[in-house]
Amino acid sequence: MTLLEVNDLTVEFYTEDGVVRAVDGLSYEIERGEKFGVVGESGAGKSVTALSLMRLIESPGRIVKGEIRFDGTDILELSESEVRDIRGNRIAMIFQDAQTALNPVYTVGEQIAEAMRHHLGYDDEEARTRAIELLDQVGIPEAELRYSDYPHEFSGGMQQRAVIAIALACDPDLLIADEPTTALDVTIEAKILKQIEALAEEFDTAIQLITHDLGVVAELCDRVMVMYAGQPVEKASVEQLFYDPKHPYTVGLMSSIPRIGDRRERLQTIPGTMPDLVEVPTGCSFHPRCPYAEEACRQTEPQLVDPDTGDVATDAAAERAAACLEYTGELTGGLDYEVTVEGDEQLPIGDEADD
Ligand SMILES: Nc1ncnc2c1ncn2[C@@H]1O[C@H](COP(=O)(O)OP(=O)(O)O)[C@@H](O)[C@H]1O
Ligand SMILES: [Mg+2]
Repeated sequence: MTLLEVNDLTVEFYTEDGVVRAVDGLSYEIERGEKFGVVGESGAGKSVTALSLMRLIESPGRIVKGEIRFDGTDILELSESEVRDIRGNRIAMIFQDAQTALNPVYTVGEQIAEAMRHHLGYDDEEARTRAIELLDQVGIPEAELRYSDYPHEFSGGMQQRAVIAIALACDPDLLIADEPTTALDVTIEAKILKQIEALAEEFDTAIQLITHDLGVVAELCDRVMVMYAGQPVEKASVEQLFYDPKHPYTVGLMSSIPRIGDRRERLQTIPGTMPDLVEVPTGCSFHPRCPYAEEACRQTEPQLVDPDTGDVATDAAAERAAACLEYTGELTGGLDYEVTVEGDEQLPIGDEADD
């Protein structure tokens, strides 16, 4: 059953330089319990999309168009107090920076327990017992002892685990994780992703995982949406994305997947940078960076289409789609990239590393 349906979401920021359309006509849906990845370089509009779901876009930004149906109700139509009931309760969010999410003056355990008392109506004893269980489940050793630690007594990896425990404490239907492991060491990252996955499966929580890193998507997600300059450029299952990518931008991202150990010195394989969103290029916004761009790409804005049939696939339910003129027969030279997927090049998963 569909848990989240986003239709034509459009978000603008009104800046001194002009109107920035940070999210431009975005549609997608997430099923109950599904793990959905949103991937793209910095500035693609991933975080703005996430904040929109929680209705946390603030001035100078505004959601100018669209629908966000969560379990059948359009979040954009709710009153502020109704949104507050959903936020943190049915939709939880974790960010890159664990430190700012934790309150330094309360113990970690107390913060998890408080979330459960507040959202689930647990009494003190129940909340404490369950909080210790959760700390244990996210991989904090000696959870009962660590319950009384303050956030600064935790390492960065443990802090992020605690944040995950708080987010999952109220058994949300949807967990939005915005670059949750970007600040962490690559080996801790793999473990934490595994734990998020295990917990989400246990609680049947759907995940919207936001990342600039396709390696992270490969690790955790069922389906993926690739974003570029505020727009979706490809939608696919993880298998399709890795074995049969359809958009040149996806292919470019793929060649920059980090290999074990060399993450810090990864090559920038897509030349150029994301365009300034005040002045998005004409036609396909990726054309200035695309090795296959032709005149048509400067003129015509490609729509999301089913790459096999060329049929329009802009609706939220479309599972396979790419926005490239290749698939509407408007590209003469074609796309002649080759995809080689080698085994065992994903992030290391296992018990060889710890905090
Ligand atoms: N508070 C803001 N004021 C002005 N522009 C913003 C603001 N927040 C985001 N934007 C614009 O939206 C674009 C997308 O931002 P964001 O969603 O944070 O990207 P990312 O994909 O890296 O998460 C940014 O490049 C910027 O142009
Ligand atoms: Mg972001």
